[in-house]
Amino acid sequence: NFTPTAFVEEMVAELKEKVGNDKVVLGLSGGVDSTVAAVLLHQAIGKNLYCIFVNNGLLRKNEFQSVLDQYEGMGLNVKGVDASQRFYTALAGVTDPELKRKAIGNAFIEVFDAESHLIEDVTWLAQGTIYPDVIESVSVKGPSATIKSHHNVGGLPDYMKLKIVEPLRMLFKDEVRRVGASLGIDPELLGRHPFPGPGLSIRILGDITLEKVQILQDVDKVFIDGLKSWGLYDKVWQAGAILLPVNSVGVMGDERTYEKVVALRAVESTDGMTADWVHLPYDFLMKVSNDIINKVKGVNRVVYDISSKPPATIEWE
Ligand code: XMP
Repeated sequence: NFTPTAFVEEMVAELKEKVGNDKVVLGLSGGVDSTVAAVLLHQAIGKNLYCIFVNNGLLRKNEFQSVLDQYEGMGLNVKGVDASQRFYTALAGVTDPELKRKAIGNAFIEVFDAESHLIEDVTWLAQGTIYPDVIESVSVKGPSATIKSHHNVGGLPDYMKLKIVEPLRMLFKDEVRRVGASLGIDPELLGRHPFPGPGLSIRILGDITLEKVQILQDVDKVFIDGLKSWGLYDKVWQAGAILLPVNSVGVMGDERTYEKVVALRAVESTDGMTADWVHLPYDFLMKVSNDIINKVKGVNRVVYDISSKPPATIEWE
């Protein structure tokens, strides 16, 4: 029987004991796990927690600034680092999904490593690892661990020589959300859909360019804002848009167009290991499809993904 308030009390005491007056560095992602881990540590050690929030240029539209503002509003000692260009450079011409993950993982490590070297005498690295991440990374059971190399766990190089602290290591996602709520974290932040570390790069099939990122950010925003305004966002476990590497013929006025196709994906799941596509209302799909095609230049067709996992995966790459 899990009690969030008891967990917080015990964990804060444990962290104080473990870390003492040492400095800790933590990479914030904008997601639930790293945020809850940060707030817990912040309660335990205050300003000795140094948070780093890296913009990889592959986040949702406007997300870097708005989430950074939110973190600052929470009193966290956080540094926002815009490394977008570095990630785009690392990704230039890369089309293979696993190579994208590698390029992003490596770029992240370089940026994070450089940033943490700027913090004098830091000795700990905190991570928002949760129980399913632990299982999935080590097990033979979790197929996605071998099918896709999730880089969240153990992804940082030994040469950083930091001791690891993972306050959420024993918790499931719903427990993390409850802990977050008892810490007073904004419910909207706690209710955010999961979002992959490699971000939009694995939702742009083929190579990544700034132009494609911007198109997809605009499409994604129409979709996600639509889910929110129709009261559907919280009924869906994860949702997003995928930019396909094909053009299709369309007609606009009396002009023929030849533009991009996007796919929308919305799934129900409890842990991401299996997932069903969500039966979104036709009226909603119609509205969102019209909005996307009318508002986002370069897109003339929207399709909806009706595949479940398995045998499909949630992401397309
Ligand atoms: P799949 O596509 O394997 O996704 O069904 C399952 C869950 O994992 C997320 N995902 C990732 N998360 N790094 C991450 O941090 C990754 O490389 C990655 N690939 C997939 C996906 O968004 C879904 O929530």
